[in-house]
Amino acid sequence: MKKVNFGGTVESVYERGDWPVAKLQEYFKRDTLAIIGYGSQGHGQALNTRDNGLNVVVGVREGGVSWKQARDDGWIPGETLFSIEEAINRGTIIMNLLSDAAQSQLWPQISPLITKGKTLYFSHGFSLTYSEDTGVVPSKDIDIILVAPKGTGRSVRSLFKEGRGVNSSIAVWQDVTGKAKEKAIALGVAIGSGYLYETTFQKEVYSDLFGERGILMGALMGIFLAQYKVLRANGHSPSEAFNETVEEATQTLYPLIGEHGMEYMANACSTTARRGALDWAPIFEETTMPVFEKLYESVKNGTETRKALEFNGRPTYRQDLAKELREVDEQEIWRVGKVVRSLRPESRR
Ligand SMILES: NC(=O)c1ccc[n+]([C@@H]2O[C@H](COP(=O)([O-])OP(=O)(O)OC[C@H]3O[C@@H](n4cnc5c(N)ncnc54)[C@H](OP(=O)(O)O)[C@@H]3O)[C@@H](O)[C@H]2O)c1
Repeated sequence: MKKVNFGGTVESVYERGDWPVAKLQEYFKRDTLAIIGYGSQGHGQALNTRDNGLNVVVGVREGGVSWKQARDDGWIPGETLFSIEEAINRGTIIMNLLSDAAQSQLWPQISPLITKGKTLYFSHGFSLTYSEDTGVVPSKDIDIILVAPKGTGRSVRSLFKEGRGVNSSIAVWQDVTGKAKEKAIALGVAIGSGYLYETTFQKEVYSDLFGERGILMGALMGIFLAQYKVLRANGHSPSEAFNETVEEATQTLYPLIGEHGMEYMANACSTTARRGALDWAPIFEETTMPVFEKLYESVKNGTETRKALEFNGRPTYRQDLAKELREVDEQEIWRVGKVVRSLRPESRR
């Protein structure tokens, strides 16, 4: 553990270096990790903990997409791949990686199986923070912890395979044994995290729902489209509008922000660009601030949660999401994007 000064605020950060693989294996030698759900996170976390030499079983409903995926990844029915109920019975640490809607729907049937002495693990603060809406109210006699990777399950897996690691948040909801935090840190490392930041279930879910609806996805989709449409409405060609909106951003400017920060990126641009960006940034900040405030309130008062539970609880949730995303894919901006990408020098080699 080390104390790190983040822009004037000192926070505790836990590191992988304190938990070499041999220590992890010793720590969890009497445990069976039951990974429930084999979607994006289930896949990444199950394979990484298995590769780290821990005892892992996977629990998913038979016949679904996940069951097939788990079999393809080498989980063997009856040995390491079970029904959700059977996996929970076999596990000492129940890693609930069902979709958030399924965590709520299945709670009445799985909660009696999560008995005293087991540990309940989540990768999102959703189910417990919004328990009035989700109905997820666990018993008082189990440790309850969170490890929330700050990346998709696919990156949890790919970074682990590259010998790198995703960063994750950790939190404790309930500590019966006095070991809950230690377990969260160890599991965080076991699933492939490099650094672990401390938070609470509530702060994790508020920031996560806010961020993905905001700049990570929702705001980005909306602002890209707005800029593209204004360029098109003013007579710019599709390729020019796309290049000035998405291609230059993702291919040259955003990677510089990621590697070196905003000032570095701006200094790599012309003085004309720098002057304009400095003038317009406060205008965008002021204009979007009320939207972000409205969004935070919608997260905090549970509106976003209720929408997600209703929509993703439908039997047709996969097809319904896919249909709406296909409509995005069919917008002119993203059809143009496909052509522009095909013309990148490396695509034509
Ligand atoms: N994805 C991310 O980037 C990410 C990042 C950080 C944290 N998290 C959190 O990690 C957890 C898992 O998320 P995820 O994205 O990995 O989930 P996901 O990809 O949506 O996976 C959903 C899993 O839930 C199962 N499921 C859905 N509805 C079900 C039902 N009615 N009955 C039984 N099983 C059902 C699916 O099985 P079928 O195939 O059989 O439908 C699948 O195995 C969530 O708490 C999420 O918030 C996710």
